[in-house]
Amino acid sequence: MKLYSNPASPFARKARIIVRELNLTKVVEEVNVDTRSQSDEVRKLNPLGKIPVLVLNDGSTIIDSRVICEYLNETGGGKFFPGMSIWREVSGRWKAMTLQALGDGICDAAVASIYESRRPPEQQSPAALEKYGKAITTSLEVLAPANFAKTITIGEIAVACALGYLDFRLPQLTWRENHPKLRDWYEIFAQYPSMKDTWPAALS
Ligand code: BEZ
Repeated sequence: MKLYSNPASPFARKARIIVRELNLTKVVEEVNVDTRSQSDEVRKLNPLGKIPVLVLNDGSTIIDSRVICEYLNETGGGKFFPGMSIWREVSGRWKAMTLQALGDGICDAAVASIYESRRPPEQQSPAALEKYGKAITTSLEVLAPANFAKTITIGEIAVACALGYLDFRLPQLTWRENHPKLRDWYEIFAQYPSMKDTWPAALS
């Protein structure tokens, strides 16, 4: 299988972490692509022009980091996607998926904010920047490590990737100052070899 990815992408990073955690490195080849300079190539793989994309050995493709992560989890016999609970609605799978959506949403807002801030100053929208900033800060406020799963799920992986991405692209947010519990949780989580091995970097 080939995982089309980018070392800066927090979305691809979730899949790259699962590849390492489930010892899939020998069956999943990571291919770095730049969605800006190689947009035509990427669109041939994914009409949306986004990474990550997983190309299976039969040539078929899977898109969207959430779908790819679940596929890799199944392939590697992982437990990052818990089963559904019939006892409580927001537990098990739904809790993990909701936490993943929140982590991914922080990344969506961060990426949009970075693109906006790279526009010429006179073309930037202060309202849009404020909206993205609020999405990030209010999401960080509801992230309570005490509610995280004891056995790591895709939700905790997505949150860790989001925090790593904020450190990488928006260090000026200094999120640790207002979130000491999240800081302490992340400090330990960031020590996993799969986290260290996928630390975000600009594509050279
Ligand atoms: C980035 O360079 O920040 C980036 C690259 C790919 C996907 C998302 C973000």
